[in-house]
Amino acid sequence: MDLKYINYKREGGIAWAQFNRPKKLNALNPDVFRDLEAVVARCEEDDAVRVLILTGNEKAFAAGADIGAMAAGDIGVAYDQTDQTMRVQERLADLPKPTIAAVSGYALGGGCEVALCCDFRIAADNAVLGLPEITLGIIPGGGGTQRLPRLVGLSIAAELIFLGETIKADKAERIGLVNRIVPSDSLEAEATALAEKLIERPAVALRAAKTAIRKGMSTSLKEGLQIEQGVFCMLFGTEDKKEGMAAFLEKRKPKFKGK
Ligand code: CAA
Repeated sequence: MDLKYINYKREGGIAWAQFNRPKKLNALNPDVFRDLEAVVARCEEDDAVRVLILTGNEKAFAAGADIGAMAAGDIGVAYDQTDQTMRVQERLADLPKPTIAAVSGYALGGGCEVALCCDFRIAADNAVLGLPEITLGIIPGGGGTQRLPRLVGLSIAAELIFLGETIKADKAERIGLVNRIVPSDSLEAEATALAEKLIERPAVALRAAKTAIRKGMSTSLKEGLQIEQGVFCMLFGTEDKKEGMAAFLEKRKPKFKGK
């Protein structure tokens, strides 16, 4: 992969993608999103990848869309950029493998919105999150008005989006924006530990659970329950279901194959 602003590596089943534009606090421009799309495509194709962890550096996960790049933009530019952002973020959110945003420092605007596309957000104790777009005379354009209320509820999302004030890790944890807070120096270790637990789980069932949750969130309860029934029953045809239940009955640890 020819990446300019993301460092990518795979360690066992864990793919690490680290935003790497430190002089601009990892601000997200079309080149960064091009890199992110290449990373997501790699993770889709590479069966060895079981979990994707997105991260930044100590000071910033990503401080938002690149304001310099947006400042001169007109309506057409805004459509072009948001078309790209939406496409890449949907592809990330739909990745049929668990994703973790390991957030240290600033996750603002578009940076927070990328983290919202992940299944889990683990925050270092120095993390600062928020959607400050209103202070620039715009609104979140990377899914924030849609994904944030689905995660934290309408009125908390409205407060964060209308006021544009940033919040620290402890408040982010309290409102459910992040799953948990960890000491800054153990962010990588904690994200790895979570990824390793996920890797022990049956991959087909994980994928099914992610599909049921994601599809169910954008439909009625009745349809969501039907989606769940479909994927639940499908899993009865897998080797992992036979192994998981046999292991329980034989009082041993299951050995899942992802089949
Ligand atoms: N875009 C472009 N450049 C950015 C940036 C951004 N979002 N955030 C930081 N930078 C740049 C700064 O301009 C600065 O560059 P120079 O050294 O060349 O001047 C460098 O990164 C370091 O930043 P600061 O000197 O500002 O660092 P700080 O520690 O004093 O402040 C900060 C940190 C509070 C995060 C501040 O940089 C800031 O407020 N950044 C903007 C945050 C923001 O508004 N994000 C939302 C963007 S809009 C958006 O994301 C739209 C969308 O929904 C898609």
